[in-house]
Amino acid sequence: MLKEIYEAPQTIRLASLGRVNAATRTIKLGGLEGVEEQLRHIDRIVIVACGTASYAGMIGECLIEELAGIPVEVQIGSEFKYRNEPFSRGTALIVVSQSGETADTIAALKKAEKYGVLQLGVVNAVGSTIARMTDAGVYCHAGPEQAVASTKAFIAQVVVLLEIALFLGRDRSPLFNTLLQEIEALPDKAQAVLAQAETIKKIAIKYKGYKDFLYIGRRYAYPTALEGALKLKECALIHAEGFAAGEMKHGPLALIDEDFPTFALAGDGPMLEKTYSNMQEIRTRQGKIIAVATKGNKLVHQHADDVIYIPKTLEQTEPILQAIVMQLFAYYVAVEKGLNVDRPRNLAKSVTVE
Ligand code: F6R
Repeated sequence: MLKEIYEAPQTIRLASLGRVNAATRTIKLGGLEGVEEQLRHIDRIVIVACGTASYAGMIGECLIEELAGIPVEVQIGSEFKYRNEPFSRGTALIVVSQSGETADTIAALKKAEKYGVLQLGVVNAVGSTIARMTDAGVYCHAGPEQAVASTKAFIAQVVVLLEIALFLGRDRSPLFNTLLQEIEALPDKAQAVLAQAETIKKIAIKYKGYKDFLYIGRRYAYPTALEGALKLKECALIHAEGFAAGEMKHGPLALIDEDFPTFALAGDGPMLEKTYSNMQEIRTRQGKIIAVATKGNKLVHQHADDVIYIPKTLEQTEPILQAIVMQLFAYYVAVEKGLNVDRPRNLAKSVTVE
């Protein structure tokens, strides 16, 4: 798992190689060229995936809606296949899967087939069942992922969904050029996050004894928080929940006391002040806070017990850097607890049965 976490910079490079070119201000997704005409007519996208891939999908939802202006809905495969929702022909389905063999995601494709909608894949395993079933798609190119917990594949999925969002919004998004440049800058920034592994390890040792954890974030950082919580659950066998920070008052705040720490995703961006207020609400209840903040933020330590700084980036690309922090945190807690981090109990790498 550690090896795969450390492949993040290269993963970002491989997922954008030959696709993103900031100098020429272009994005080229060969896998979508054959369906470009169909893509012009879609007015709704449904993203279907499971687990970590579904959280990448939720980040994709924010990206496609903001950059391309197309309404997106995310559903988990195990629910999607049993729902009876209306499905118009202007809808496109995007399935996200590392293995390309997940039974519930395959079932989603089979169901959508009946509606005759365009089916796209964001898949890592080349030639897998899902890659073959979809009409078109964009490969993640993350290389084989061996550890059960998905790490580098999540990074690649977010990069590819960002590329799809930019591709769909290329004629209209004011952020188009800035984001192309940012994708090219990301490998070095990911490397800078990895360089903080020792700091993250120290914090992991400090918090390894807790039995419950909360992860909070807003907007792009909300699905990222869900993913952070999942990593801690599956790797470190610690009960962890992810919540939109604004939901705290609607229930989860009742849980907070000195034994229930929170991982707060508090990057620079339009939601920072509001996230500070949520952190304050937690601290008032004696809850401890580990914040992931942007380098240069001089105020965040007033709202947190421990801070991990990530390089400045855009709100849209922040999940990628935040994810590396949370992957390392889950990894170190698991190793400190003497667990087999590569093969967590009760889990399989690829879930090929319902
Ligand atoms: C979590 C994890 C799982 C997978 C999920 C989907 O770390 O690995 O939640 O993301 O089982 O698998 P794929 O992406 O292969 O469809």
